[in-house]
Amino acid sequence: MAKVKVFRCRICGDPYIGVEPPARCPFCGALAEYFVLAEDWNPNEFNMELSDIARQDLEAALKLELDNTAFYSCALNVAKEGGDEYGFAKFKALMKVEREHASAISKFLKIDKPPLETVPCSDDFKTNTQEGWEREDRAIKAYAKFRDEVPEGRLKEFFGALVEIETDHLDLHAENLG
Ligand SMILES: [Fe+2]
Ligand SMILES: [Fe+2]
Repeated sequence: MAKVKVFRCRICGDPYIGVEPPARCPFCGALAEYFVLAEDWNPNEFNMELSDIARQDLEAALKLELDNTAFYSCALNVAKEGGDEYGFAKFKALMKVEREHASAISKFLKIDKPPLETVPCSDDFKTNTQEGWEREDRAIKAYAKFRDEVPEGRLKEFFGALVEIETDHLDLHAENLG
C-alpha cells in the first residue's frame, strides 16, 4: 500500500494527509499545484506587509466571501428542509469553501473572521442555483481585477487561485441549469 504524507494547501493553509495532493483542496477548492509537503511549509505564508491597494482588495473580497457563505447557508437549509439531498450537499460544500476563503482572507488581514449576517434565498433549487451562478460570476470578475492590480506576487497568486476555484463553482451551477 502506498505511504501517506502530510501536505499543506498554500491557499488556505489547511493540512491534508494523502498519498498525493488532492486534485482540489477539500477545504478551499484550490488545485493540486498549490500543495506543498508539510516539511516545506513557509510559516510566513499569510504574514506580510500589505499595500493600501491589497488591503482594500482583501477587504472587498472578505465582504463577498462572507455574503456568499451566508447565501449558501440559507440555500443549504432550504434544500434540507425540502428533502433535496443533492441541493443540500451542493450548497453545503459551497458554503464550506466560501467560509474557508473568508478565513484565509482574514489571516492576510490579521483579523478574526467577522460573524455572518443573514442573507435571504429562494425556496427553489434552480433559483438559488441561478443566484449562485451570478454571485460566482461577480466574484470571478472582482478577483481577476484584484489579481491584476495588487503589487504583491503572493496575493496575485492567491486571487488567481480564487478565480480558478470560483470558476469551478460557476461551471457546477451552469451544469445544474443546463
Ligand atoms: Fe486549501
Ligand atoms: Fe470564494
